[in-house]
Amino acid sequence: MILEQTISPPPKSERKVSRREDNKLQRHDRAAHQWYRFVLSFPPHLVRDYIKKFELDESSSVLDPFCGTGTTLVECQKFGIKAVGLESNPVVCFASRTKLNWQIEPDELWEHAQRVAALTDAKLEDFGLENNRELMLLETAQNFRPRDLLKLPADLAKLILKNSISRLPLHRTLVLLETLEENRDDRFYDHERLALITALVNEISNLHFGPEVGVGPAKFDAPVVSLWLDNIRRRLEKFAILSSNGKGSSS
Ligand SMILES: C[S@@+](CC[C@H](N)C(=O)[O-])C[C@H]1O[C@@H](n2cnc3c(N)ncnc32)[C@H](O)[C@@H]1O
Repeated sequence: MILEQTISPPPKSERKVSRREDNKLQRHDRAAHQWYRFVLSFPPHLVRDYIKKFELDESSSVLDPFCGTGTTLVECQKFGIKAVGLESNPVVCFASRTKLNWQIEPDELWEHAQRVAALTDAKLEDFGLENNRELMLLETAQNFRPRDLLKLPADLAKLILKNSISRLPLHRTLVLLETLEENRDDRFYDHERLALITALVNEISNLHFGPEVGVGPAKFDAPVVSLWLDNIRRRLEKFAILSSNGKGSSS
């Protein structure tokens, strides 16, 4: 079923609360939704309200023609409602698709990610870079030749905001991506890349959101591999919860 009903604004009494609640992600909604979000994402409670209002159940089908990072699709999947999404931005579409894949064995993902992290650390150390979060990165990153740092090809560099990522974090990220590719396991590949995208946007890059996207002060360095692993670790326990609750199928 395509939602044909007109969506009317909530009554005044509810508006205050929902404005206060805003788009903030509630603790209990972090599973899947937090794996990648952007400012335009619907808040999950709004989707749940409409699922209830339209009395949708397992016999319903939902089409979200502008599905963004997939809030509607994820909520539908949790309730066992079939849902289909369309999205024109390929990265956002990738995020949505990955957020709907809950059939992951967490221990195996963690083992694979740790192996990739160790291999990446070894390559970075050979290059003269360490990845120890406890140490001042400024002090540890002294023994490399700046001209050997990896860069984005010119056609790709044009696509990102100027100065949105510093040279050392970019080098670390490209080495991690290369190692992921060399050790690719299709069971985990999308989740591992989505975790890197999330870490890049929120922690590794110089981007800031207020709520418009902008470029903040340049970071000299960032512990890319640790941030990526943290991001994966935070989602591990969620797979078990989601796959036992999620009944529907979304795409
Ligand atoms: C407000 S967001 C969608 C939020 C989403 N429905 C949710 O559940 O969180 C709107 C999305 O529409 C996408 N979009 C804009 N024009 C589009 C088009 N012509 N076809 C498909 N997607 C489009 C944008 O890239 C953006 O990600």
